[in-house]
Amino acid sequence: MQRRHFLSAGAAALVTPLALPAYAAGPAWQRPASFGDHAALQTMRGLQGQDLACDSASIEGQLPEGLRGTLYRNGPALFERAGQRYQHWFDGDGLVQAWRFDGTGSVSHRGRFVRTAKFQAEQAAGEFLLPAFGTAIRAKRPMRGPDDINVANTSVLPLPDRLLALWEGGSAYALDRDTLATRGPVRWSDELAGMPFSAHPKIEPDGTVWNFGTGMGKMVLYHLSATGELKRHAVFDMPPCAMVHDFVVTQRYLAFLLPPLTLDMDAVRAGGSFAGAMRWQAPGQARSTRVLVIDKADFERRRVFETPAEMVFHFANAWDDGDLLTLDYVRTPEAPVGEQRLRSIVHGDFRGSPSSQPALLRLNLRNGQHRSELGRDALEFPRVDPRVVGQRHRVVFYPAALGRDSAQRFGHDSVLRLDRDSGRRDAFTFGPDAVIEEHVFVPKPGGTREGEGWLVGAGHDLRWRASFASVFDAEHLSDGPLAVARLPYAVPHAFHGAFAAA
Ligand SMILES: [Fe+2]
Repeated sequence: MQRRHFLSAGAAALVTPLALPAYAAGPAWQRPASFGDHAALQTMRGLQGQDLACDSASIEGQLPEGLRGTLYRNGPALFERAGQRYQHWFDGDGLVQAWRFDGTGSVSHRGRFVRTAKFQAEQAAGEFLLPAFGTAIRAKRPMRGPDDINVANTSVLPLPDRLLALWEGGSAYALDRDTLATRGPVRWSDELAGMPFSAHPKIEPDGTVWNFGTGMGKMVLYHLSATGELKRHAVFDMPPCAMVHDFVVTQRYLAFLLPPLTLDMDAVRAGGSFAGAMRWQAPGQARSTRVLVIDKADFERRRVFETPAEMVFHFANAWDDGDLLTLDYVRTPEAPVGEQRLRSIVHGDFRGSPSSQPALLRLNLRNGQHRSELGRDALEFPRVDPRVVGQRHRVVFYPAALGRDSAQRFGHDSVLRLDRDSGRRDAFTFGPDAVIEEHVFVPKPGGTREGEGWLVGAGHDLRWRASFASVFDAEHLSDGPLAVARLPYAVPHAFHGAFAAA
């Protein structure tokens, strides 16, 4: 019942006849020669749907012997069909990548598009057939629910027997961990088929997986075993918020920050995209970000607190200590979801600076009193040691914009380790010729100290117009990478990933 309501409401919004927007007379994509005024955006031209393969990346430096496993990554990688170009970075079809570190000094790379229903239909037709999050395209196929426009482009969740490609608006897609071949959308249960499964599941140190999904005023919670079986779930009405991207777990709670974002359905019906119809604070609404705190042991025990309005995409981690809840995340003063900066990325004419900064929110669950601490670095995509998820942590890793002039261009040029206890910063700046993606922390085998391990992630060399993976000693970032594995080709800038040890 709840699921039917969820899906039918979502589908109704999505199948609303949408007029083609003004881009039919369009700018940048019709002049590909002009693409890349901004060198850091070369990779955002995108691919045409082809898979990528490199058996042996060129290695500089010394790869650690103990680093064995696969760095999986996911991101939007196809932005244009039949001369029509998407208007928003979040719209592109998901390309899942596997960087394999075999422990003998060799690194291979594979990239395969997720064969979603949308991708397959549009590949066959040679044109876009359905709307996307940030681009209003008139549907040329029947729309039954969110999975019809699922692009599976945001992150991955490695499970023992499969790899999940994630997108926050619909089902996870299961892939083969070795070949990256698409198996199909995941049905956690009959009731939950087609329900949103966010791209930011949290994995506790024992492997327990928590996740959520939101849409049309509802929230779904998922509690999965380490092997990916559904143990519990709940669906309930949530406080108003048009976009919830990430959340956190602590020992006792699930916690969400719900910014004052609403969806202007009149704008959608008038032919606008969902991203363009996002509104920061509806008229007459209290301007606050709500903190939704849910008891892990009883999903019915939910509390809502209010804090000053701010936007959050990503959390580093959180913990509870008695009645004190501490959330560590990255915030911006307002929502950039539909703004020109995110749109310009897929047109190669990005202008502007990354404005997100690290934040700590300490919330007293007994009386609602709260205190915030803000950092000054421009950064995003925070990651912690997976052994401290849900517990008090000390160290957070980020890609950051630290180099001279880095604020004027797309992306980040540095990796940064921030010690939350001492405030100490340790960073390495690649320089103006590189753009750095999220780097994930990989514990060193046998190590027990938080932060003892490697920091592994991807980046793009703007001189060679090619992508690379870099590996750092996570306790000595400023020494520079231990090794860099270079590809002979460029991969579109990806969002998120995860490392699965071999
Ligand atoms: Fe994200």
